[in-house]
Amino acid sequence: MKKITIAIDGFSSCGKSTMAKDLAKKIGYVYVDSGAMYRAVTLYAMEHDCFNGNQLDVEKLRNMMNDISISFQFNPETGKPDTYLNNKKVEDRIRTMEVSERVSIVAALDFVRTEMVAQQQAFGKEKGVVMDGRDIGTTVFPDAELKIFLTASPEIRAQRRYEELKAKGQDASFNEILENVKERDYLDMHREVSPLVQAKDAVLLDNSNMTIEQQNEWLMKQFELRIEDRN
Ligand code: DC
Repeated sequence: MKKITIAIDGFSSCGKSTMAKDLAKKIGYVYVDSGAMYRAVTLYAMEHDCFNGNQLDVEKLRNMMNDISISFQFNPETGKPDTYLNNKKVEDRIRTMEVSERVSIVAALDFVRTEMVAQQQAFGKEKGVVMDGRDIGTTVFPDAELKIFLTASPEIRAQRRYEELKAKGQDASFNEILENVKERDYLDMHREVSPLVQAKDAVLLDNSNMTIEQQNEWLMKQFELRIEDRN
């Protein structure tokens, strides 16, 4: 059976990565979390003094771009790939609030996006990939055979992230997370380069009132329909 490309875009903390990773596992595709790549660049910038508070020295980061190498390694324990920055595992460090607060600034830079998009396209060259992000169906893989656009209410998304951080033992305040979710929605939708927008041919899903099992089932159906169409 011919493999296809699956693009899952949508707002932050909608459960895109859960959905994408579960589907990839079931159908034997590679899963790529494109947001993790922007987070890794942000962590690098933070650790190399490109930030003064939330103020970014853009030229400093531009000159460092060639020193940043991002890769993924499948972790059988979690069932998903861990993110590596210059061969060091950074999976937990890229998920902190400090990184979440700064990542939109980094993800809005054209030179960062050009580099990340090129790497993402290379990951998907052979098809058989499920990639989640903001611009996968519009910019990275405009020809993807299956495109999903995922959304849920900001409050529900903040609650999910709050529980996720708590479970990891990280300090979190619900209100702070809710503010961060709303602010990132705004920045993601209003940035100049590749803003978050639903691709014309994407299937919309609001999963506010769905369980993970229900959304996985829904996605599997979408996949089967697309595969049927092609065979
Ligand atoms: O999905 P996430 O929350 O881990 O993404 C982190 C940030 O990266 C988010 O603020 C939006 C940005 N991003 C992007 O601009 N384009 C992508 N393809 C993926 C993420």
